[in-house]
Amino acid sequence: MRDILPADARRWREVEKVVTSTLLGYAYEEIELPLIEHTELFARGVGEATDAVEKEMYSFHDRDGESIALRPEGTAGCARALMQNGLLYNQTQRVFYSGHMFRYERPQRGRYRQFYQIGAEAFGLAGAEPDAELIQMGWSCWQRLGVENDVRLELNTIGSGSVRTAYRRALVDYLTPHREALDPDSQRRLESNPMRILDSKSETTRAVAANAPRLTEFLDEASIQHYERVKELLAAMDIPFVENPQLMRGLDYYTDTVFEWITDRLGAQGTICAGGRYDNLVEHLGGPATPGSGFAIGLDRVVLLHEEVNAPGDEGAADVYCCVMTTEHTAWVFDWVERLRRAVPRLRIRMHLGGGKLKNQFKRADQSGARWALVVGEDEVANRRVGLKHLREGGQQEQVDFETLLARLTETSN
Ligand code: HAM
Repeated sequence: MRDILPADARRWREVEKVVTSTLLGYAYEEIELPLIEHTELFARGVGEATDAVEKEMYSFHDRDGESIALRPEGTAGCARALMQNGLLYNQTQRVFYSGHMFRYERPQRGRYRQFYQIGAEAFGLAGAEPDAELIQMGWSCWQRLGVENDVRLELNTIGSGSVRTAYRRALVDYLTPHREALDPDSQRRLESNPMRILDSKSETTRAVAANAPRLTEFLDEASIQHYERVKELLAAMDIPFVENPQLMRGLDYYTDTVFEWITDRLGAQGTICAGGRYDNLVEHLGGPATPGSGFAIGLDRVVLLHEEVNAPGDEGAADVYCCVMTTEHTAWVFDWVERLRRAVPRLRIRMHLGGGKLKNQFKRADQSGARWALVVGEDEVANRRVGLKHLREGGQQEQVDFETLLARLTETSN
């Protein structure tokens, strides 16, 4: 887990703002979800044999002996919330959430045990259109963040639930005679989650998997049509994609469309966003049969990418720094500065606190990154004026009244 210090937090805020305003632009509505859920929800929803649940979940017993877990992802909790509040009966829901997720992974650049996702989910909407809309939303985020040339969309279909059942059976039939050649994890997965064997890192397992039957051979007409339509819509929207038949995704709830947005600029942890369709999830959790589709953006990684691609912003902590020559005038200045904040809410105005020589106050002003310094002393208070000095362009300090000050600051802060 890591700290995000003020200089990075500014970029975080900026990136998060771009993403959430993009999602709001598609009329997705925000939903706030708890960080803790019953362990059972993730075991059922995400899948008992997935890494996220089996190996990486922070789960523990609370004081009543209930097994609870820090959420490893948001989709299951989102489905639970909408179900429990009766929002999935004969309705569609398009929502987004943002917040921290927790997985006990081996930390490295771009992979943390506490990480931040912004997820979007569309419930009650079948067909290829919602999948295409979700992908368009992602694309729009990358464009607005200026990183669209550094990401690629990988796309696949894993078929409907019944296709997967048939495929799973064929896969087990093929792999069982090769059991001894598989690595121990894959041997275990032969019963629990055979499809994950296909993306094993072990050389010997990969050699066996190379000749395994392919899922594409099992797809039914409906899945093929769905997939074709998604591709057609993406092409019509000029959203570039590459098909990756190996793309399986690590969570169990997916059906049909799956996709990942990947960058080569972050090393091993290059997937900045991932998602797909999950038509059986809600029913599987005990709710009404409800199709669904969504994605989650890994914000930690998007922020790293944004930093790689865009030059560091020169935005400091403050826009205006207010120096006070004698502490006796502090109360007057508090009031003046507050009027200014209300008149121009976007300005960040930091007041000097704790007195000291004007020279030192100017030093602080400079460190704060402010473009403007205000100086208030005896004469200024008497004349209801303040000294205004542009810190980055040099020039003389001038004495201005409130109206002139407003005009000066708004001229340059647009
Ligand atoms: P996921 O692929 O497990 O999918 O995670 C989505 C994204 O979260 C990843 O692509 C990555 O950017 C980020 N992420 C995951 N783990 C970490 C980590 N340890 N450190 C930093 N970033 C990480 C899901 O979570 C699904 N709920 C997505 C979804 C929503 N599918 C349908 N709807």
